[in-house]
Amino acid sequence: MEVAYYQDRFLSSTDELAIPIQERGHQFGDGIYEVVRVYNQKPFMMEDHLKRFERSADAIMLQLPYSREEMKAIILDGIQRSGLDNVDVYFQVTRGIAPRIHLFPDTPAVFSMIIRPARELAPEKKQNGVPVLMLEDERWANCYIKSLNLLPNVLAKQHAFKNGCEEAILVKDGFVTEGSSSNLFVVKDEILYTTPATKGILHGITRKAVLQLANTLKIQVKEEHFSPSFLKAADEAFITSTTAEILPINKVDDVLLPTDHTVTKQLQQAFQSLK
Ligand SMILES: Cc1ncc(COP(=O)(O)O)c(C=O)c1O
Repeated sequence: MEVAYYQDRFLSSTDELAIPIQERGHQFGDGIYEVVRVYNQKPFMMEDHLKRFERSADAIMLQLPYSREEMKAIILDGIQRSGLDNVDVYFQVTRGIAPRIHLFPDTPAVFSMIIRPARELAPEKKQNGVPVLMLEDERWANCYIKSLNLLPNVLAKQHAFKNGCEEAILVKDGFVTEGSSSNLFVVKDEILYTTPATKGILHGITRKAVLQLANTLKIQVKEEHFSPSFLKAADEAFITSTTAEILPINKVDDVLLPTDHTVTKQLQQAFQSLK
């Protein structure tokens, strides 16, 4: 079953509570979030997610209401309560509940969480790949912060979907940054390329796992900026995220990519062993 938590307590259902109107997450998107995947009741790379959560909080000068250990305990309790083996845990902290003015309020931050059955991607997508659409990256300069402000990401994803694509690949100043909710990798001449972890992209946890696996598998990696035409000329390309894991790309705009996915498959297989 689904599990929900808001400000120090588990709710009886996800519909129990209406968020106070003067919630800063609701009114300003003034907060941060994480999504953790749970395989067989075991949260995947939870420590990395919690560290990134703390970095995001620091970056927006937000005092988290709980310690890392307290957050872990709440998340593990929630997973148990769900009674499910494979779930997605979404949690966020906002700057709290206060009359609406832009300046920071003097109220405690609010932690909330929702746990739902894991969204499994169709196996044929994992095997054959998905089409993507390149779009202008219209986001701000601090995309390394996992902020609640996702309007440009939402618009890009919707635009891609309307054009029959699974993901929008974002392009800024002539270089590819990342997907609307994923990081991007390209394989060219047996070298694995990905955009460096600057402030302009989210430092994905799955991206980190893939870089570690590439190291173990002795695949050469270059963290470099690359252009849309480099992506279109790729031998292989794939996106990564907590929920999509490693997902091959079979088409970029109107350009078909090769479909043997040799390196991608190697990484997908190695990823299974991490779970
Ligand atoms: C913009 C963006 N980039 C990358 C990712 C992938 O990050 P992770 O692998 O930590 O899920 C996400 C995940 O939601 C994202 O929203």
